[in-house]
Amino acid sequence: MVVVSGSNSRALAIDLANELGWDHHSLEARRFPDSEGYIRIPEEAIEAVRKEPVILVSNTFPDAGIVETLLLLEALRDVRAGRTENLKEIGPQSMESVGPGVIVAIPYFGYSRQDKRFRPGEAISAKAIGKLLASHCDGIVVFDLHAPAALEEMPIPVAFTSAMPEIAAHLQENVNPDFILSPDKGAIDRASAVAKSIGLPFSYLEKTRIDAHTIVHKAKDLQVDGKIVAIVDDMIATGGTICKAADALRNQGATEVHAACTHGLFTGGAIARLSNHVDGVHATSSLSNSRAVISGGAALARGVRKILDDLQK
Ligand code: R5P
Repeated sequence: MVVVSGSNSRALAIDLANELGWDHHSLEARRFPDSEGYIRIPEEAIEAVRKEPVILVSNTFPDAGIVETLLLLEALRDVRAGRTENLKEIGPQSMESVGPGVIVAIPYFGYSRQDKRFRPGEAISAKAIGKLLASHCDGIVVFDLHAPAALEEMPIPVAFTSAMPEIAAHLQENVNPDFILSPDKGAIDRASAVAKSIGLPFSYLEKTRIDAHTIVHKAKDLQVDGKIVAIVDDMIATGGTICKAADALRNQGATEVHAACTHGLFTGGAIARLSNHVDGVHATSSLSNSRAVISGGAALARGVRKILDDLQK
């Protein structure tokens, strides 16, 4: 089987291919001067993506990533269906269909946070993007999706995978924490999995988000005096959630505070802001940035194995 990637997740796609022992092919993904995308499966990759099922690794973030992912899926489907006719008459103009077998593995699923309709008339964006993707492929692998329920009713198999085992191993080796904290109720499952895996005490905060930049935590006695604490979340965007939680920990005597997440979005100066509140920031390579120190390859490989099992049932 083969792993392919366009412009936004190449390094992680190569890690995934290495984990699985499969080949990786780079697909052509570039921009026209007006910023619209151009996608092409190079001639030398056509046989490989037709021979066996293919895993496309592609982020649906930022917005251009959604279009790129859809175009890559469309091109893969065309080639697998044998639709290769072209004006330059390069190669065979049609081939037999090799059937379904296009799977997309999404390291960071953009729009995952609008997973419910809070007010009438709102689009449930996570579901909308999921449906769009589902109409272009045969299976989806999603990496630490904010709220998996958003993709529960997709018409094709969806496999969820998580980086918490890798985050736990990384923290144990590089931070050696005494305590794990979830900064809100939504991250309890993930953060407690990390705590359990290292065998550490765990607690969580109750967070109220006033707006994108304002967060309030309910006061809580955390018993972290003299402790090294790692805060674990699915994503860090503005850093506001982590900064507030770190302040609460320091006020209660924590000596060192680290933040770990799967998806480091780090918007609007988040890295600089975080550096005033925490001693270290540790993210996976789902998005490329200076804090992406944990490879997401092993976690994505678990998701790929799971979806292949599901597709065989
Ligand atoms: C929200 O529930 C998420 O799990 C994160 O806690 C949140 O998205 C982080 O955003 P920010 O870094 O802007 O506080």
